[in-house]
Amino acid sequence: MGVELAYTAEVAKATAPLYRKVAHVIPEIEWPVFAPVIAEINRLKKEKNAVILGHNYMTPEIFHCVSDFVGDSLALAREAARTDAKVIVQAGVHFMAETSKILSPDKTVLIPDMRAGCSLAASITGADVRLLKQKYPGLPVVTYVNTSADVKAESDVCCTSSNAVAVVEEIAREFGVDTVIMIPDKYLAQNVANLTGVKVITWEGACEVHERFTAAEIRDYRKAHPGIVVLAHPECPPEVVAEADFAGSTAALIDYVGKHRPHRVVMVTECSMSDNVAAEYPDLEFVRPCNLCPHMKRITLDNILHALQTMTTEVTVDPEISVRAKKAIDRMLAVKLPTVTKKAA
Ligand code: 13P
Ligand code: SF4
Repeated sequence: MGVELAYTAEVAKATAPLYRKVAHVIPEIEWPVFAPVIAEINRLKKEKNAVILGHNYMTPEIFHCVSDFVGDSLALAREAARTDAKVIVQAGVHFMAETSKILSPDKTVLIPDMRAGCSLAASITGADVRLLKQKYPGLPVVTYVNTSADVKAESDVCCTSSNAVAVVEEIAREFGVDTVIMIPDKYLAQNVANLTGVKVITWEGACEVHERFTAAEIRDYRKAHPGIVVLAHPECPPEVVAEADFAGSTAALIDYVGKHRPHRVVMVTECSMSDNVAAEYPDLEFVRPCNLCPHMKRITLDNILHALQTMTTEVTVDPEISVRAKKAIDRMLAVKLPTVTKKAA
């Protein structure tokens, strides 16, 4: 790591307020391991004029102790577009870092581990989209942000799980069509079609984390934990979403807990979400069957520190692709919306 990091009295004092934020989910005995790294990351951020954009799936010590801004994909993209910092460290996966670079091409965007991919982004290429457009001429292409810049560049508009309904409705209206091509997440596309009058042509992509949840599992949680509130991400299969009390983006699920304070809740999504929310609401009971995203979990405190120390690894996007991809992202950012929500029937 280069610098000798130790849990000194000074580090203990400086990080004590941060520990209070995570005390409910990080045992005190582990803090001396995290604290010196956290203190050094926070020092380096100031020195390098850097911000850390942390996705809601980051582990609590990243989410609560070093991130300058946390949120869902949409919120992080908006923040990347408006930050004054010179350097963005993306505590998230590669497509998020690419989106930041596209929106802020003059900034240095670092990802702590280049291998932090996404099963959705890996499921489709720009060439696939060109073939789809040939097959369905005249239909707009709505592309989930969980894709490469190359795929975005072939698209009419992007969407995230928090604005997908509004984006699909608006683009269908603009094109004067009742059907859109919605790629690459077949489940998100079906869930959006279920909430709109718009038909979707989908792609065989799925999130490897959310596709594993089943409707039977949700029914079992309800039997085992009477009164439990079930919150699901719309990357889950439609039959899982149908069993949930509420579905929405990672930020919408967090908001739901903050607003409704359910006594007992299960977040049908990536594991760290419950930890991060439980840290904030220690009085609520979180039932925690969850699935880990191996890509998100590649980001650690140690590699965030390494990224800031060495200013690696920089994410770059071909300028010609970047300009075309930006059009699709900007079109999405221009769509005014409330958060996507869904109540089970
Ligand atoms: P959100 O936009 O809801 O944060 O989702 C991103 C993601 O990768 C979920 O798996
Ligand atoms: Fe991709 Fe799923 Fe991981 Fe999100 S949780 S980054 S959609 S693999």
